[in-house]
Amino acid sequence: MLQDIPPPTWREASPCILQTERLTLRRPTLADVKAIARLANDRRIAENTRRLPHPYSADHAIAFLRATANDDRETVFLIENNHTPIGVVGLDRNQPDAPELGYWLGVAHWGQGFATEAARAAIDFAFEEYDIEQLMSGARVANPASRNILAKCGFQWIGVELHRFEALGSSTPVDRFRLSRGVWASLKNWNNSTRRGR
Ligand SMILES: CC(C)(COP(=O)(O)OP(=O)(O)OC[C@H]1O[C@@H](n2cnc3c(N)ncnc32)[C@H](O)[C@@H]1OP(=O)(O)O)[C@@H](O)C(=O)NCCC(=O)NCCS
Repeated sequence: MLQDIPPPTWREASPCILQTERLTLRRPTLADVKAIARLANDRRIAENTRRLPHPYSADHAIAFLRATANDDRETVFLIENNHTPIGVVGLDRNQPDAPELGYWLGVAHWGQGFATEAARAAIDFAFEEYDIEQLMSGARVANPASRNILAKCGFQWIGVELHRFEALGSSTPVDRFRLSRGVWASLKNWNNSTRRGR
């Protein structure tokens, strides 16, 4: 008798490397601690991410890597350009029905389209690998660059919530966004049209 094959869970997903035009996304290891701490130790990053403390030390990076390696609800990719770490993108499934996309880049790497490129790779991974119907994300109201990335990836604004930010030591308004599987699939299938003369 044929049995229903259950969809893959996050734990079953195999570690893999994602490749984009300019970036490699891979699981970070303890060998990356120094690079992660050096990149993350900037208030401009901490003030725009919920969980990053500031200052950010190697011990914080070690604790982050240990916690995420042992948590099947967290999928973390180190973003590399030319074999050099430039940031992190992650998928957090603590709320299974509302997996959350998050990302940050070292300040020296801002303004070159890297975050959009990395976010798109992580989004493709999430929808291709897992039986999820939507991805959520958020950006501080005072973070137009991140809002722009989410819009460029097809996320739709759903409202404003107050969220606590570790480095601020307080709560602040966050624009919330949602990308449905349907919208993602539609964008992926929207091939270029060509125009012919009469
Ligand atoms: C947000 C962040 C990831 C952006 O990285 P990035 O690689 O510079 O982003 P991209 O270049 O892919 O895209 C940014 C877009 O916002 C635009 N942008 C940047 N600053 C802007 C501003 N002040 N106002 C309006 N738009 C802005 C850029 O022009 C670009 O859009 P475009 O491609 O249409 O020109 C980076 O600044 C960062 O790590 N910030 C701190 C952490 C953070 O905010 N994480 C996101 C929270 S989940």
